[in-house]
Amino acid sequence: MTQALDEIKIGGLGASRKRVEDSRFIRGKGNYTDDITLPGMLHMEILRSPLAHARITSIDATRAWQIPGVHLVLTGEMMATRNLAWMPTLSYDTQAVLATDKVRFQGQEVACVIADDPYIAKDACEAIDVEYEPLGVIVNPEQAVADGAPVIRDDKENQQDNVIYHWEVGDKTGTDLAFEQADVVSKLRLHYPRSHPSPIECCGSIADFNRATSKLTVYMTTQAPHIIRAAVAMVAELPEHMIRIISPDIGGGFGNKVPVYPGYVCSILASILLERPVKWIEDKSGNLISTGFARDVYLDGEMALRKDGKILGVRMHTDADHGAFFADAQPSKFKIGLMHSAFAAYDIPAAHLTARGTYSNKAPGGVAYRCSFRVTEAMFFQERMMQAAAADLGMDQAEFRRMNFVADEAFPHRTPFGFLTDSGQYAKCLDVGLKAIGYADFRAQQQEARARGRLLGLGISTMTEPLGAGNSREYDILGIKMFDSAELKVHMTGKAILRTGTKSQGQGHETTWAQIVAHELGLPADDVVVEEGDTDTAPFGMGTYASRSTPVAGAAVAMVARKIKAKARKLAAHLLEVSEEDIEWELGRFYVRSAPDRGVTIQECAMAAYSNMPDGMEPGLENTAYYDPPNLTWPFAVYIVTVEVDPQTGVWDVLNMVAVDDCGVRINPMIVEGQIMGGLTEAYAMSSMQFITFDADGNCVGANYLDYLLPTAWETPGFELHSEVVTPCPHHPIGAKGIGECAAVGGPAAFVNAVIDAIGDRAVRNIDMPLLPDRVWEAVTYHRDISGAPPVRTDG
Ligand code: CDP
Repeated sequence: MTQALDEIKIGGLGASRKRVEDSRFIRGKGNYTDDITLPGMLHMEILRSPLAHARITSIDATRAWQIPGVHLVLTGEMMATRNLAWMPTLSYDTQAVLATDKVRFQGQEVACVIADDPYIAKDACEAIDVEYEPLGVIVNPEQAVADGAPVIRDDKENQQDNVIYHWEVGDKTGTDLAFEQADVVSKLRLHYPRSHPSPIECCGSIADFNRATSKLTVYMTTQAPHIIRAAVAMVAELPEHMIRIISPDIGGGFGNKVPVYPGYVCSILASILLERPVKWIEDKSGNLISTGFARDVYLDGEMALRKDGKILGVRMHTDADHGAFFADAQPSKFKIGLMHSAFAAYDIPAAHLTARGTYSNKAPGGVAYRCSFRVTEAMFFQERMMQAAAADLGMDQAEFRRMNFVADEAFPHRTPFGFLTDSGQYAKCLDVGLKAIGYADFRAQQQEARARGRLLGLGISTMTEPLGAGNSREYDILGIKMFDSAELKVHMTGKAILRTGTKSQGQGHETTWAQIVAHELGLPADDVVVEEGDTDTAPFGMGTYASRSTPVAGAAVAMVARKIKAKARKLAAHLLEVSEEDIEWELGRFYVRSAPDRGVTIQECAMAAYSNMPDGMEPGLENTAYYDPPNLTWPFAVYIVTVEVDPQTGVWDVLNMVAVDDCGVRINPMIVEGQIMGGLTEAYAMSSMQFITFDADGNCVGANYLDYLLPTAWETPGFELHSEVVTPCPHHPIGAKGIGECAAVGGPAAFVNAVIDAIGDRAVRNIDMPLLPDRVWEAVTYHRDISGAPPVRTDG
């Protein structure tokens, strides 16, 4: 028998293949929306509201129209004549495209100017005279439900207050019983503050309507081009086949580029009206102040515990501040995303979650910033609660977690909130992490340092994230099921083009999808070109967010390659003149079982598909697969951090950080490590330095990079990554689980737990993120929690 191909050499599964997309990025040859210039293109700028809540008494655009070079001024009133002043959101609410009656948050879109260049458009925006009558402002859920609170959404017929929903899940009776039986009840309340995904590239679009062909082409920064096509078809009432959405290279998305923004809609309408291409590129402050924020939830919970450390039950309540419009992109069935994935890794008999969503005078929030629909908040609460409970019991942090983990042999496991987890080796991951950090030695050093007035601390966080939304039984957005797709065309010379319904924003799909094809077919990964993001060519898919690409589209890639292989097998049988049953496969080659030297390569089969197919066989070697995942994938991770806190200044430094990630089979270990490092960096940023909030008047404080810090390599600590635990996903065709978000989801609690552990004061149960030095100093000095709702505390 001939030697099978070496899978690593052809860039298959497990190869740390260099990212093919980087060859254009590092040469400055990427093609981002702002790089595109079309003949006759005009430029659009947006006038935003300076006030957070005010009635619009008049808008006078006379002066703006008179500026030479201005082609169009769009106002809410004009949008209303075309039924476009409001648009539906992805959570069955409505959102103003351009304000008509009121402005409801600072930075809201009030008018747009389309002009020869962006400078003229900007100047003309300033020449629009808007008169406002200020109204009372609401910036947190407590104010939203207070007696006499102004009703923000008085545009909605049946809306008498600021409550969007009440939602609950879990077993209330069982949980009540658990609390009756508890020896100890541990409580925790915290605020996961607003944060902003802040991709380096802001949002933007170029709409190009061609009256002659009736075709609308839109280049735009979207993570989900097909969803945008459907939304444009429905909102603008255009025929879907005449809409082409192209998502070119994207400079980071992190959930920020999932929603539909007013800027997209206005540029489309402007192009239709003017019959010229219209470009809108948002500036940084526009992005930070008005596009999808994340988090902003108050989490209140308690844990019923037995003296020996067994968790009997958990109660959680979430107050979510959604801003002025409920625009979250999340599965329709779940009002607060997958918050109820909390405690999935622990064997807890009963749990109950209640959630209330409220409006406020802030930009819409709730985007899944590098997380699978609120999982970040869930895991943060889980791991902060685990630390508080262990402390209340006087138990060791690691031991308390270990004794409550779902055991390896207990899978499949039904979580207290009803998810089905299917695989994992939780205790093993913890052991690897504890060994790597030198747990026992560190605890001894900590004691010794404390005796000398030095505050050392160690924080543990674990996370299991439900990734790969999701199976059509439960997951849809606006009724569209959350499957994904792949189309593979193998040319006659054995080179191939693969297209999927996802859209990479830096995750490296062009590299990893080709690796899956290499694994399945034995075609060298370099012979497979990957394309995403063009709705005229890519098969329908739900896009890339919530780390769903590998679990769903990655699976579709494997499945389409298997369809191709099945046809290639028939071609091989024909070429080898044997029956299909007599054929065996080794990577890249079919051979006759009884005569292994007689074989044909996959490339020879490809040629035969176009030149020598058997009678009756349809020519060509191409296919499409739509993949409806049977379940979510459940990666697991343990993150452990050691820190030193300076009690005099509240400054804290990371001494060491260890990450043990089990994401099943790794397609490309180098890319996986990059994803983990990026996620840990964002976790560190959220826990230590990123602060964007609102004052009592609803002014957005921190909408700039002096306050809202992006950590550079200089500030970011080193991370030690471990990959030795691999638990393949039992239902994924190649055993892979998602990874993109895990570290950003699980990381923040590790940092906060470490600082709280260092302070070592039972009176300090919580310091809300970001753990700025003044907050830490205050906690250490005055022996008290630092938690509370902005603007009660803005720390500055
Ligand atoms: O949906 P998104 O691409 O953001 O997340 P993902 O599916 O977790 O994948 C992030 C990147 O890591 C992609 O390039 C994946 O193909 C790669 N990956 C991998 O190499 N092995 C895994 N087990 C999971 C992801």
